[in-house]
Amino acid sequence: MSDKKIILTGDRPTGKLHLGHYVGSLQNRVKLQSTHTQYVMIADQQALTDNADNPQKIIDAIFDVLLDYLAVGIDPKQTTIFAQSGIPQISELAFYYLNLVTVARLSRNPTIKDEIKQRGFEESIPAGFLVYPVHQAADITIVNAQLVPVGADQLPMIEQTNEIVRSFNRIYGSVFNEVEALIPEKCSRLMGTNGQEKMSKSLNNAIYLADDADTVSKKVMGMYTDPNHLRASDPGRVEGNPVFTYLDTFGTDTQKIQDLKDHYTRGGLGDVVVKKYLNEVLQEFLTPIRTRRKEFEGNQDLLKTILKQGTQDVRTIAEQTIKKVKTAIGLTYI
Ligand code: TRP
Repeated sequence: MSDKKIILTGDRPTGKLHLGHYVGSLQNRVKLQSTHTQYVMIADQQALTDNADNPQKIIDAIFDVLLDYLAVGIDPKQTTIFAQSGIPQISELAFYYLNLVTVARLSRNPTIKDEIKQRGFEESIPAGFLVYPVHQAADITIVNAQLVPVGADQLPMIEQTNEIVRSFNRIYGSVFNEVEALIPEKCSRLMGTNGQEKMSKSLNNAIYLADDADTVSKKVMGMYTDPNHLRASDPGRVEGNPVFTYLDTFGTDTQKIQDLKDHYTRGGLGDVVVKKYLNEVLQEFLTPIRTRRKEFEGNQDLLKTILKQGTQDVRTIAEQTIKKVKTAIGLTYI
């Protein structure tokens, strides 16, 4: 038991999860839960850092995300699923960490920089938003995690976590270990159905894990392909063509996919044929996910129990971590 590595990972609940989330991190979590001690956190407080005026959106999404986790096969018997807001010790730890980070360093975090631009914050960046990577460092270290399975966009967060860990250990004595990101090998960022480099809700180019068969089929048939592949007889491009990217990612019949690619490149293969096959592949991938979702859907009591139990378990660990932290700093007089 004790030689199992500890994993902590999570998502901001701002909406349902999509295939990009699956490829980026969900599939790793499902795979790793049987061999590691895994904690998966619903980062509701982090989601509020840019949604302060719309808490209901976050609250609704918490249960959508939880359902997505269970549907893809994250098993509450093997993985502890918990809510960030249920662990006040994370914020407590983050407050000590904030002294170890400069505002200049926070402003240089490339993921934060991108997000600030995307959201048009300009001069009015919520302070909580700017510092959420520090809070995230506390998420990760509150359970002494060693591994963090995430998409590539989260690498700057891991780097910042390790800087904080090093500073903390240097000043107060060795309490925390450095952590390692685990990025998927095959494809760390799934492109959108419209060919944009990233699948995301805000870009309106996502296929959701909760989409029904009809919705998936419509989205697939409307996908972007090679804009120069006008007639079936024209030679087409496979690179940058999301239909083929998705086949590579979700298909299992590699020989058939290779044959389709060769035919498409040569010319003589229409988009519709490839899209129909992709639709079959995706429906097959989503079928067991849909079946598992049905087991939990509508059972609000069960969902709440899972989240409550997981949160309680993490709180016990978090209390121990905070005790160690306060002892290391010397805050032991009360
Ligand atoms: N920032 C992550 C995201 O946007 C979510 C997250 C919060 C997270 N805390 C975490 C991921 C801790 C890994 C570890 O997807």
